Amino acid sequence: MNRATNWNTRYHTPTNIPPPCQVLSDYTYLLPTIGTALDLACGLGANALLLARFGLETYAWDYAETALERLKAFAQAQTVQIHTQVRDVVVSPPPPTMFDVIVVCHFLDRSLVPALIHALKPNGLLFYQTFTRTCVSDQGPKNPDFRLADNELLQMFADLQIVVYREEGKIGDTTQGFRNEALLVARKV
Ligand SMILES: C[S@@+](CC[C@H](N)C(=O)[O-])C[C@H]1O[C@@H](n2cnc3c(N)ncnc32)[C@H](O)[C@@H]1O
Repeated sequence: MNRATNWNTRYHTPTNIPPPCQVLSDYTYLLPTIGTALDLACGLGANALLLARFGLETYAWDYAETALERLKAFAQAQTVQIHTQVRDVVVSPPPPTMFDVIVVCHFLDRSLVPALIHALKPNGLLFYQTFTRTCVSDQGPKNPDFRLADNELLQMFADLQIVVYREEGKIGDTTQGFRNEALLVARKV
């Protein structure tokens, strides 16, 4: 079974639309009011739906066709338009200078970093959130390669202006706060 087939199988099970990721729901107010947005490796596309409802021309790419079929139905029900595309984003990364906003949530392929930076228009914003190796629960991928090292998002996107960064590791009362993940909003200057 290849990886896309694996994801397609998972998305066959009906679920409601998941909530948008925290980096987007907490910092929606940073979004531009017009422009183009990409939800990369979108899955069921909760982030794409938020971006489209916000009024951005929204693209949602994933190699799992089943997820995109379901996203299309969610978008129709919410009367928003989303340009969905079945696309392997590693084989076909986003082209240069196409997006004002790129959202990546729970997806990590380090080879894509230069393409993500190039794909942003000047002043474009990257919203990124994914799992960290330092964690207090077993949520997320088991393979450490698919999890971030401490401060890794900051290093990956050091060429951008960091607007927001949050990573709380195991500091203090781990029953509170934002754990198991890191989030970043960064701007191309
Ligand atoms: C953990 S899910 C996250 C989905 C969504 N971003 C979210 O936060 O709900 C990871 C997604 O990445 C997609 N994916 C993995 N590798 C991909 C690739 N090379 N090209 C396109 N999509 C990919 C999977 O199909 C899956 O939908």
